[in-house]
Amino acid sequence: MQTINSAAVPLYRQIARRLKAAIESGELAPGKRLPASRVYAREIGVSRATVEAAYGELVAQGWLERRGQAGTFISDRLTAGAPRADTARSAVVKSAPLPFQLGLPGLDLFPRALWARMMGRRLRVQTRADLAPGDPAGDPELRRAIVDYLLFSRGIECRPEQVFVTSGYAAGMALILDTLARPGDAIWMEDPGYRLIRPQIAGRGLTLCPVPVDDDGLDVDAGMRTAPDARFVLVTPAHQSPTGVPLSLPRRRQLLAWAARRQAWIIEDDYDSEFHYRGRPLPPMKSLDAPQRIIYAGTFSKSLFPALRSGWLVVPEPLVDCFEQQARLAACTVPTLVQQTLADFINQGHFWRHLKKMRQHYARRREWLVQALAGLGYPTAPGAGGLHLMMPVSGSDRALAARGREAGLAVQALSDWRLVSNGPGALLMGFTNIADAQMAQRLAEKLIAAMSEE
Ligand SMILES: Cc1ncc(COP(=O)(O)O)c(C=O)c1O
Repeated sequence: MQTINSAAVPLYRQIARRLKAAIESGELAPGKRLPASRVYAREIGVSRATVEAAYGELVAQGWLERRGQAGTFISDRLTAGAPRADTARSAVVKSAPLPFQLGLPGLDLFPRALWARMMGRRLRVQTRADLAPGDPAGDPELRRAIVDYLLFSRGIECRPEQVFVTSGYAAGMALILDTLARPGDAIWMEDPGYRLIRPQIAGRGLTLCPVPVDDDGLDVDAGMRTAPDARFVLVTPAHQSPTGVPLSLPRRRQLLAWAARRQAWIIEDDYDSEFHYRGRPLPPMKSLDAPQRIIYAGTFSKSLFPALRSGWLVVPEPLVDCFEQQARLAACTVPTLVQQTLADFINQGHFWRHLKKMRQHYARRREWLVQALAGLGYPTAPGAGGLHLMMPVSGSDRALAARGREAGLAVQALSDWRLVSNGPGALLMGFTNIADAQMAQRLAEKLIAAMSEE
């Protein structure tokens, strides 16, 4: 609320007018509780009687309601229309994810009460020092916890100094490129590949080199032919994003040998490797990184939840100093409280338990959708992991995806993930938030019906 001016209009009227304007603009929504008059008066530096008079006027006009001990509220009746101008409602509203949304973990399965307890406990034991800006490279406790997790769960050996906490993959990529890239450097990118990272690359004057993907993942021979001098390779070895195929062992070896020869950097995006449902997953490439050419990028967006905005990089030992210097140019953007709670979550064993539980749920949820679509005559690609399914379609996958979206389903077209490659069309759909077999059936039927509409 702005400050009160000293014009001839009585103070209580000025306050009432401003509240009314805030209600009309949608800034104060119907049903919202106003601060107690005593608190509000102190906040804006007027007497309590003045605020009471403003509230009283708005109650009389129907803008506010008094609900006894519970306090004073923006009238619920305003939702029905008058006197608020509906056109002035704020466009900033929270929307729930749509069915099939890609890249989301199962939001219903996250132990929110446990997380809240752990965060509360952390908050209570924080010291004064925790209020100061933390280490720009990340909280030491979290960096150590990530080292333990990587060793036991991913077979990666590293020191805490090699770990840089980031606010997610894009921020990690920015740190990598700000530290190492020079204008004009070439970067291999999987085609089709994760499209949301392209702006980070395009905005830095790098030459983006699309490299095709086949049933063994990134086609390393093709990359070596088209851009033999590339300085960076962006790759999703666990489950290629979005096709889901793992990068085969021969290709991993070939890529690493080429990078060692050419002194190129491999950026291993290990975003969802924890979720593998059939057979043994290959370990991350980073665990084979004898030549020290791999920068490993991890994220909590899939394993916990994306609103955490927390991920990390593991950089090769010889790069620690230059990453450290670059990281020191800005503060770490992940709040200390979040980092410390994450460290507790890992150190107390909750992270492992959660991953184990999620793997079991996802295997079931995935199977429900596979069966529902297969039953309707639409088999899905066989992939063994990840958080989404790919369903081959004939005809324009873009047109079919658009029909799905018109029906309120967040399906995506494989073609929209391509850079220059051509290939058969497919629809991509997340399965992690499908709660039971009936829901899978309902959604599959809805999708197929939408696709069949003329
Ligand atoms: C291929 C891929 N890499 C990385 C990420 C992680 O992104 P972030 O850490 O910014 O949430 C995602 C998220 O959807 C992804 O799909």
